Amino acid sequence: MKNKILLSACLLFLGLFSFIKVEVLPFYIPEGWPKPIYNFSENKLSSEKFKLGRTLFYDADLSRDSTISCASCHLQFSGFTHIDHALSHGIDGQIGTRNSPVLINLAWNKFFHWDGGAGNLNQQAINPLTHPKEMDNNLKEILRRLNQSNFYKNKFFAAFGDSVITTDRLLKSLASFTVSLVSANSKYDLYKRGEIEFNEQEKNGYQLFKNYCSSCHSEPLFKIDAFKNNGLPIDSDLNDLGRKTITEKENDNLQFKVPTLRNIEFSFPYMHDGRFKKLKEVINHYSELHKSDIEYSKELKKIKKPMSESQQKDLISFLKTLSDKDFLYNPVFMYPKNERIEQEE
Ligand code: HEC
Ligand code: HEC
Repeated sequence: MKNKILLSACLLFLGLFSFIKVEVLPFYIPEGWPKPIYNFSENKLSSEKFKLGRTLFYDADLSRDSTISCASCHLQFSGFTHIDHALSHGIDGQIGTRNSPVLINLAWNKFFHWDGGAGNLNQQAINPLTHPKEMDNNLKEILRRLNQSNFYKNKFFAAFGDSVITTDRLLKSLASFTVSLVSANSKYDLYKRGEIEFNEQEKNGYQLFKNYCSSCHSEPLFKIDAFKNNGLPIDSDLNDLGRKTITEKENDNLQFKVPTLRNIEFSFPYMHDGRFKKLKEVINHYSELHKSDIEYSKELKKIKKPMSESQQKDLISFLKTLSDKDFLYNPVFMYPKNERIEQEE
């Protein structure tokens, strides 16, 4: 009798359990990190919305001629940037004017784009979707395509409770995916958590980094929400004025958003125009900066003489501790093979 009661209790428990949907969300706030800037109350995260955003992110059908998806320029294994060329390549092989930035820890970003031209992640995606050199589509046409697809209707139903597809829902789904791209499990993070040790080279590099770099590339995000001039000579073909393009203020001339350095080993080429292919070139630029007559930001004035060959190597070996393979190869962020977008006539 006792056993029977126990058995039915167990069955009841299992029954109840199967009704409770355990939602696993990839977004989390790593221990000790600041509060995210992203306003989650305007776009509540759910696993269904994340999955819909992920499918959209990998769907080339959002572009005019169905050839370019967000992932064409934002590849996971490079920290969600492109790697084989300096400037982004969009529709009809057209070349853009900037290097595509990484998509990492965006929940902690106040500004988007190299000049801060987009302030809200929930709207940012309008730019690539409609940009004539990126996906060159218009929202009316995108909504028409999505509305024609039973596959998407079902996915919007699952995410929003009905199958109405609007621009707002499209953009918020994409944002649910991009805001979830959290990278916080690099060797550096393990070191900070006391789980591993740095070798001598990494320790020296970390010290140099704290002396020279961390006033702008601040831990734990390895960036600050600000625009700075890190002393790059202007490219006379592109003539990119950075932040000034948006504000038209003289003070903002040639100021660019400070990018995160997480996964920097894999996100080459570097800078807003992808001018450097190797970390060695980047370090060399900073090392020689004191000789330059460019009016670069004051934080960099601490570098008064060239770094020695071995210091440069130390610094690079520290930068490589920011690589997070768990992030770069996390299957949750990959193209969902089991959710293939059905080709519907
Ligand atoms: C043709 C290449 C290309 C495509 C396609 C593309 N992007 Fe981008 N993305 C870029 C470039 C270049 C920038 C930087 C723009 C600038 O600074 O003016 C950028 C910037 C961003 C940013 C801001 C990141 C930051 O930290 O500043 C986000 C977010 C983003 N893209 C998401 C997307 C999404 C979502 C899609 C698909 C709807 C998409 N991108 C499609 C090239 C592309
Ligand atoms: C004054 C603030 C400042 C300081 C200090 C600084 N940086 Fe930067 N860093 C920037 C800015 C701004 C950019 C983007 C510049 C651009 O693309 O025009 C950048 C870009 C980079 C990039 C390329 C990132 C990418 O995604 O393309 C690397 C790597 C880098 N910095 C490393 C360092 C290192 C190493 C140090 C220390 C020796 C350092 N930075 C010091 C402001 C700074």
